[in-house]
Amino acid sequence: MSRWISIAACEDCPPGASLEAVAEDRIIAVFNVGGEYYALDGVCPHQGGPLGEGTLQGCVVTCPWHGWQFDVRDGQQTFAPTVKQPVFPTRVRDGQIEIALDSVE
Ligand code: FES
Repeated sequence: MSRWISIAACEDCPPGASLEAVAEDRIIAVFNVGGEYYALDGVCPHQGGPLGEGTLQGCVVTCPWHGWQFDVRDGQQTFAPTVKQPVFPTRVRDGQIEIALDSVE
């Protein structure tokens, strides 16, 4: 059974927006794509840039440091098939975005 953790209020992440949150000892990047929430490990695998502060265009976030891009739906880096950022399941409860921190994909 998953352990769901509240990480942000829905109103803080409107469609097209992203944010960075801390869940226990992990930094999480949260994205709103057309009303659907997605959550990735927030630390870019290149050199540790903050993906939650990146630019979101459609379902692709661009790391603010050197421009690596990831599909926020599945964590896939857009030009290196072997690079995939961990993804966390999300849900909404009582106006809060929750992630299943122990269900990383
Ligand atoms: S740290 Fe993200 S692209 Fe370099």
